[in-house]
Amino acid sequence: MPVAGLTRTWHRLRFAVPRQAVEEISNLCFEQGSCGLETREDAGLSQLTAWFPVEANMAEVRHRLAAQLIAEGIDGIAIEAGLEEERDWIREWRRFFKPVWATPRIVVHPSWTRVDTNPGEIAIAIEPEMAFGTGGHESTQLVLEAMEAVPSMVGSACLDLGTGSGVLAIAAALMGARAVVAVDIDQIAVENAERNIELNLRSSPPSLPHGGERRPWPQVMRGSVEIVAGQRFDLILANLESQILRPMLTQLGELLSADGVVIFSGLLARERSGFRQSLREAGLTESEVYAKGDWICCAAGRTSTVQAGRG
Ligand SMILES: C[S@@+](CC[C@H](N)C(=O)[O-])C[C@H]1O[C@@H](n2cnc3c(N)ncnc32)[C@H](O)[C@@H]1O
Repeated sequence: MPVAGLTRTWHRLRFAVPRQAVEEISNLCFEQGSCGLETREDAGLSQLTAWFPVEANMAEVRHRLAAQLIAEGIDGIAIEAGLEEERDWIREWRRFFKPVWATPRIVVHPSWTRVDTNPGEIAIAIEPEMAFGTGGHESTQLVLEAMEAVPSMVGSACLDLGTGSGVLAIAAALMGARAVVAVDIDQIAVENAERNIELNLRSSPPSLPHGGERRPWPQVMRGSVEIVAGQRFDLILANLESQILRPMLTQLGELLSADGVVIFSGLLARERSGFRQSLREAGLTESEVYAKGDWICCAAGRTSTVQAGRG
């Protein structure tokens, strides 16, 4: 048992699954209360390790996991269970964080590594904490790719919903947004985003590359769509999962300026048609889709605007 103030203990499950089942099984682990997951590729299989709080009902978790594996047609998987003392996650995580070219023009790199860039390229430094957004995940990379294609990026008022490390808010500021608001429900993310904004924008040249106004300083707030109700944005970046996004689609539509664009990410390719239907019901229409591996990202606008544009 963990003792308050001393080392924490976690349940650990370890097992191997075929690569194509990783997303599904990882989601299931999170639904069952997993607070951390690690995947390693090994001889065509993915070795998954999932950690759960010591209070979790592990008999129930293992039962559900076994049922899901059978439903996926995966038989005879041995699940190794154990208890583990807390590790220094941030230190471990730092060892694996290397510069990553998220798009051919945008590199995201650790704050302690310098990356030389050519004119027109953007380097974003990230101090990794426990917040998501070091540029290595397809869902982040797809938003950056979609942002590069948004014609109205320069001079836009931008909302980064679920900012995590702040990587997209920083990108928006560096790509010419006029104003940026970044929100997240997680206090750790809010603090990490503020730190990364400081790191990237404090010493960078004050004027925008196109010679426009001063670079904006993203405003970071803890919360979700409700804290920006009544405001209008030309660009909304929303890298969240579909089950989080769906209930807020109508509210997001209301935050959009007439010609505004929302970039949704964190969607699996197989969710595309269902999500497109949810967009329609919320008065939004998909205008562009970007794909990478199992992930997709889509740009959408208000239905009346997108249809008028197509007409
Ligand atoms: C997948 S990460 C995206 C991080 C970063 N924007 C990126 O693209 O790399 C999603 C973030 O959304 C936050 N989040 C989850 N649900 C949310 C909600 N309902 N409203 C605002 N933020 C939320 C999480 O705390 C997490 O930091």
